[in-house]
Amino acid sequence: MTQQKITLFDNKRIILGVTGSIAAYKAVDLASKLTQAGAKVDVLMTAAAQKFVTPLAFQSVTGRPVYTDMWQADSSGGLPTHIAHVGLAEGADVLLIAPCTANTLAKIAHGLADDLLSLTTLAARCPLVIAPAMDGGMYESEVTQFNLRVVKGRGVQVIEPDEGRFASGLVGKGRLPETPTLIGHLRRVLGRGGTLNGRKIVVTAGGTREAIDPVRYISNRSSGKQGYALAQAALDAGAKTVVLISAAQHLPAPVGATVVPVSSAAEMLYAVLEHIASADALLMAAAVADFTPEHVAAQKIKKSDAPNDAPTLALTRTPDILLVVKKRRADTGFPRVVVGFAAESHNLLANARAKLERKGLHLMVANDITAEDAGFEVDTNRVVLLDAAGGQESLDLMSKAAVGEMIVRRVAALLAPPTQKE
Ligand code: CTP
Repeated sequence: MTQQKITLFDNKRIILGVTGSIAAYKAVDLASKLTQAGAKVDVLMTAAAQKFVTPLAFQSVTGRPVYTDMWQADSSGGLPTHIAHVGLAEGADVLLIAPCTANTLAKIAHGLADDLLSLTTLAARCPLVIAPAMDGGMYESEVTQFNLRVVKGRGVQVIEPDEGRFASGLVGKGRLPETPTLIGHLRRVLGRGGTLNGRKIVVTAGGTREAIDPVRYISNRSSGKQGYALAQAALDAGAKTVVLISAAQHLPAPVGATVVPVSSAAEMLYAVLEHIASADALLMAAAVADFTPEHVAAQKIKKSDAPNDAPTLALTRTPDILLVVKKRRADTGFPRVVVGFAAESHNLLANARAKLERKGLHLMVANDITAEDAGFEVDTNRVVLLDAAGGQESLDLMSKAAVGEMIVRRVAALLAPPTQKE
């Protein structure tokens, strides 16, 4: 699968340290995806790492020299050999060691600097992230846990390894997480200090499901992709807390988001009210069912021998979550900013503006659901942003990730304290 560009990685310099674990092969995929996302990736390998993967593999996917030895000019990536260790880290945005062996972790914890990677780590001024990966009981051993506490105490970010089966056949904790998870952690680090710094953002996503009986439900075509993209954009903008109230199925949770799974409109309302109490913004991207079965059958509804036995479903209205939020906001002042989404098949702008006013929104994202390349299920969207002041901005067809970034930019501006008049 190809990796889409990630705005946050645009022109960022990432140093990827690779150490001697069988998981080193996964680091090739990571280096490749980071490069595709737009980052400049400088790979630095220990001698042990080169037993598992060749420098050429990394050079091929990053298109950049690979650093392996500080003493030899031909393997110091062209840097003068005596300054390779400081030159490399200079100007880097983040240094990630993945996989990081117990041995390299121990070196970092205690300031040893006997190869190019440990030297560079010691000299680096940028954020340091490590992804420990080790076999058997090494991760859980007392000394490794001690070393982890030491590095965490110095501000190093540690990505928890996964549990599973090791190359040795043993089972336990110590596997390198998959590439999207590693990238998610890097996004969190690179997003620090962004436009939503310190903010709490609540996002809803997906189509709610209204039960008919224990196996059947009424739902809609919403995939949740736009809501998940919004949550990721809020994380990339440095939001402190992102709560993703999700009725979507099978979408990977963005690293750093607190996912609250819900099913029905009523459950979503309950979760929204719980989480907006101290929220800066609510981004209501979910497609909430307007009607729900009046009665939910306790047992599966069975058909009989009669040919015309189809039951008639009596429906009743669900709560309009945004109207409840409007009232709550009037009482408490929270959430500070509310964004709604309007899915329309006709009279897009007039309907969207009427909803913005009725629901007391700061921003309305209007979506023409009849377009094939935008709206439900697909990865792209074409929306019009309407604001409470009467403003209107039509965005071109773009990825849902890019739409998420545009909305987050508007939310950050709405939350920013007004600039002082001269
Ligand atoms: N919404 C909500 N609670 C509902 C229905 C919708 O909070 N019961 C929210 C949606 O999450 C969205 C906005 O209201 O942000 C507009 O949703 P939409 O389905 O376009 O409009 P409705 O208010 O349901 O009106 P209609 O279906 O008649 O167009």
